[in-house]
Amino acid sequence: MAEGYTANFDEIIDRRNTSSAKWEKYAGQDILPFWVADMDFAAPDFILDAIRERLNHEILGYTRPPASLDIAFQSWMQRNYQWTIPEEWLVWIPGVVPGFNLAARAVAEPGGSIIIPTPVYYPFLRVPGHVEQTSLKVPLVRDEHRWCIDFEALHNAIVPGTRLFMLCNPQNPTGRVYSKTELIMLADFCMEHDLYLCSDEIHSSILLDESARHIPIASLSPEIAERSFSLYAPSKAYNIPGLPCAVAVIPDAELRHMFTNAMSGLVPGVSPLAMAAAQAAFEDETSYLADLLAYLRGNHERLQEVVGERMTPVAATYLAWIDFNRTAIAKQAGRHFESHGLGLSDGAPFDGSGFVRFNFACPRSLLEQGLERYEAAIAQLG
Ligand SMILES: Cc1ncc(COP(=O)(O)O)c(C=O)c1O
Repeated sequence: MAEGYTANFDEIIDRRNTSSAKWEKYAGQDILPFWVADMDFAAPDFILDAIRERLNHEILGYTRPPASLDIAFQSWMQRNYQWTIPEEWLVWIPGVVPGFNLAARAVAEPGGSIIIPTPVYYPFLRVPGHVEQTSLKVPLVRDEHRWCIDFEALHNAIVPGTRLFMLCNPQNPTGRVYSKTELIMLADFCMEHDLYLCSDEIHSSILLDESARHIPIASLSPEIAERSFSLYAPSKAYNIPGLPCAVAVIPDAELRHMFTNAMSGLVPGVSPLAMAAAQAAFEDETSYLADLLAYLRGNHERLQEVVGERMTPVAATYLAWIDFNRTAIAKQAGRHFESHGLGLSDGAPFDGSGFVRFNFACPRSLLEQGLERYEAAIAQLG
């Protein structure tokens, strides 16, 4: 049984004067922030203690990822996803966003293109421009309950020179967790078209749908593993995104070499404090995560009661994707909510104009205030 951990997710913690990106955006205005993906919950004590312990040593020099960090991550992967990975496959980096940009930089060739299902976490959409590749955006399709990959559209989108498929699973912003069948189809698609695959799995631990299972796509077969970059970080589930520490799992030695070459001169080492925090997170076997998920499920349920059909159920992440197309506010949905005191992410940068993204990882009482404002904002929409 998991060791107990007592968190108080109801506690309102004042984040003003901490230069919080989430809260500073609307400083001095009566707008409550439910936008960027960080949570208004304390990082668990065992993470803070690991950082404090590191600070007991007074020198914070350049630091290599210690073997204990590799082992913590390897055990986490084995425990959660039964995927056995040797330590040589691991490259530690200061963030997942650098990771997917590096993967693209590693495999880009003149005249190449990158295929990206949309809507998606907007830094994905900037990647092709950063590495002078053409962007092939393929819309996900919505059925009543979820967003799915449109395989026919994928096949139609591919062009000679397409190099890379960029996957986000669990998916931000739609909250989808792809099934094993879909992942096998995706892996087959990458093999059929000789594509590299970069899979951002940063939200893998935040599964709200108890019947959903996260499967690392590269664990499906050695054939897909050898063309893939898989990215993980504990920063979402443990709420430490200000201490970036992520890991790229790259089974193929040559690809790994291309990736580390792409880092050269651009990417700093991971901070020792971030590594201490990440190790404590990967080693965590307390009830913290189960309790967090139970709380987030409660928030999700409340949000669904108010939002109804405009959102699909969120299988993973703490982000809801809400549709205001075919309404009077479709062209400026984010603005409309801001004018009612609610700071949501507008869908346009995600390639989802007419949508807003609602981050519901906050104390319930704060969510209730947000929902009151939400209801006032949509009252005139009829
Ligand atoms: C899908 C996804 N990838 C990456 C990130 C950010 O990763 P990092 O802060 O490690 O660069 C986020 C943050 O919201 C995200 O949702």
